[in-house]
Amino acid sequence: MGTVLETKTINKHFRKPVDFHVLKDISFRVKEGEFASIMGKSGSGKSTLLYILSTMDTDYEGELFLNEELVTGKPRKELSQIRNRHIGFVFQFHYLLSEFSVLENVMLPAKKLASKSYQEIEHDAMEKLNMLNIGHLAKKRASQVSGGEKQRVAIARALINNPDILMGDEPTGNLDSYNAENVFQIFKRLKEEEGLSLLVVTHDLDFAKRTDRIIEMEDGTIIS
Ligand SMILES: Nc1ncnc2c1ncn2[C@@H]1O[C@H](COP(=O)(O)OP(=O)(O)OP(=O)(O)O)[C@@H](O)[C@H]1O
Ligand SMILES: [Mg+2]
Repeated sequence: MGTVLETKTINKHFRKPVDFHVLKDISFRVKEGEFASIMGKSGSGKSTLLYILSTMDTDYEGELFLNEELVTGKPRKELSQIRNRHIGFVFQFHYLLSEFSVLENVMLPAKKLASKSYQEIEHDAMEKLNMLNIGHLAKKRASQVSGGEKQRVAIARALINNPDILMGDEPTGNLDSYNAENVFQIFKRLKEEEGLSLLVVTHDLDFAKRTDRIIEMEDGTIIS
């Protein structure tokens, strides 16, 4: 099996207000089709790490590989293309555009990538919505669907460009247990049926226990 994501001794410092060594020698990999979770106390560096893995933060030492290709050091524009094509994100808060329809929200990242026609993008977006059992909401405004539905819209949006890896920063953190379980089952199905790799930060031990592997962080290091 291939490696979708790999880090080699990533270190990061926040320089202000005082020097703070937030990530220390982070080395790990996520294999194709692997569903991994990251756990750790508040402040242990999980979000900081995800921000680097998502190629958004480039201010670190060490190396980041995506699909066995070194991405560290690439120019901004190229990183943005790599990110849009290969990585999907789901956050604790959905960040949907509330005035846009559900369908339009899902279509956005594909429009940005601009490698398909409008009709193809619309068709693919509908397919993702149907896969997540929210096809009937396509024409509704994003502001008019429930919290659990919004999070499924956010997942559909994260999947629209068929990424190799889906990253989440507490994607179930704002959901009740019913909707959190629903999101877990969606992730599991994506792994099993689509061979998608997933890397999800969670505070929910019951969620984490059912992933393939728990990566535990403490004070900026991986302890297991
Ligand atoms: N821009 C910044 N400048 C300085 N310190 C920061 C900055 N952003 C985060 N930190 C500090 O870095 C540490 C790690 O923060 P991070 O957000 O990665 O933690 P986390 O593990 O995601 O926590 P949580 O579970 O609460 O989301 C914390 O001590 C935080 O206060
Ligand atoms: Mg965090």
